[in-house]
Amino acid sequence: MGIEYPIISAAMTWVTSAEFVAAVSNAGGMGVLGPNAGQTEKATSAEDMADRLTQEIRKVKALTNKPFAVNYIFPMGGATEDPFTNAVFDVLVKENVKNVIAIGLNVVDRELKRLKEQDIKVVYRDLSPTVEKLVEAEKSGVDALIVTGYEAGGHMSDYKISTFSLVPQITSLVKIPVIAAGGIIDGRGAKAALSMGAEGVYMGTRFIVTKENPASMETKKAIIKVKSEEFIEFKSGTGHLRTIPTEAGKKALELINLGKPAEAYKYYGEGFKIGMLDGDLVNGTVSVSESAGGIQQILTCQEVIDEIVKPSDEDLKIFFLQFDTDQIRINLIQPGPIQTNIVTKALSEKAIEERAQQVPIKRLGQSQEVANLALFLASDEASYITGAHHELMEDCL
Ligand SMILES: Cc1cc2nc3c(=O)[nH]c(=O)nc-3n(C[C@H](O)[C@H](O)[C@H](O)COP(=O)(O)O)c2cc1C
Repeated sequence: MGIEYPIISAAMTWVTSAEFVAAVSNAGGMGVLGPNAGQTEKATSAEDMADRLTQEIRKVKALTNKPFAVNYIFPMGGATEDPFTNAVFDVLVKENVKNVIAIGLNVVDRELKRLKEQDIKVVYRDLSPTVEKLVEAEKSGVDALIVTGYEAGGHMSDYKISTFSLVPQITSLVKIPVIAAGGIIDGRGAKAALSMGAEGVYMGTRFIVTKENPASMETKKAIIKVKSEEFIEFKSGTGHLRTIPTEAGKKALELINLGKPAEAYKYYGEGFKIGMLDGDLVNGTVSVSESAGGIQQILTCQEVIDEIVKPSDEDLKIFFLQFDTDQIRINLIQPGPIQTNIVTKALSEKAIEERAQQVPIKRLGQSQEVANLALFLASDEASYITGAHHELMEDCL
């Protein structure tokens, strides 16, 4: 996909915009336009939505030449076609957009086929992921998987499986890249995800609390204020919802408990727009990750990404090597400056290329540096490593 860092800002209805998406992409991650991106009112038809999406995509292109993606909602509930999905597809083709974050309850073959025919990269995020479903999704031919744990913001899975439980199960079973989602708000979470075999992270809640995100200032402050134990949660039409205990959220919970889901829907149905975009913390919902308890300030998108990718002393100590029969798989938590220097000193670009022919590398994390390190370790020059790192690597080897 040509992204500098494997950090993707999540598709989130109402709370993405061209400015926000471009800010993430310009900071080295990849921004994703979600439903209603850049809007304050609902589209009146599929055509109206397509016009608005086209304008937003053009704005992104004017603000960045880096990769970005668009949310693509597969038809659900047994439908094979959806007029809104068709309209988004036409826009992608016309605007030459090359990446989608596709969501659904299963991969819809017709959709995948036509996206691939247009040479569009399809990153699939199942809304209620299980090991079985994600293994099937790989077989169907998607390019990468976003694996979402129950900690996530937005509509949550029907299965209460946490990111920590689900991601390592999937990375053990699939060959395509896995991107971890749910509850990741900083470098520590990202490193944990990489150590579980993920190749990237997909973050929603943390990116809402950024200067460039269109969510209201009141909402951003409420997310900073909330404690993890204060959220309320209920079953919604499309999974589960967790929200800061707004009046609307409390009322919805009460009605669900009384067995009145249709009445409850009146309170949370438009909640994301009212609560997150308009900042009405009485009548709306603020449906974010329980990790929100750990968010303390509004940052820029650049600051969020810098914090994740900057190596710390701690980072230099932690990495895992895993040797398979035909590949060296390295989960490097963060390539620190020492390791990077050694790698670049030890191998010229030409040597790296030659070795790349001999050793198939499954690239992880910060791919080029990690691949270099893998090649280096596969080489005779491994003895160049000195000091603590040498001992550490010897242990691993
Ligand atoms: C307010 C909000 C709205 C969301 N809306 C969408 C959506 O329209 N489409 C989608 O694919 N995912 C949506 N999501 C889910 C995110 O794409 C992502 O999976 C989730 O935010 C990741 O978990 P995190 O918030 O813990 O980082 C939404 C999430 C939030 C917080």
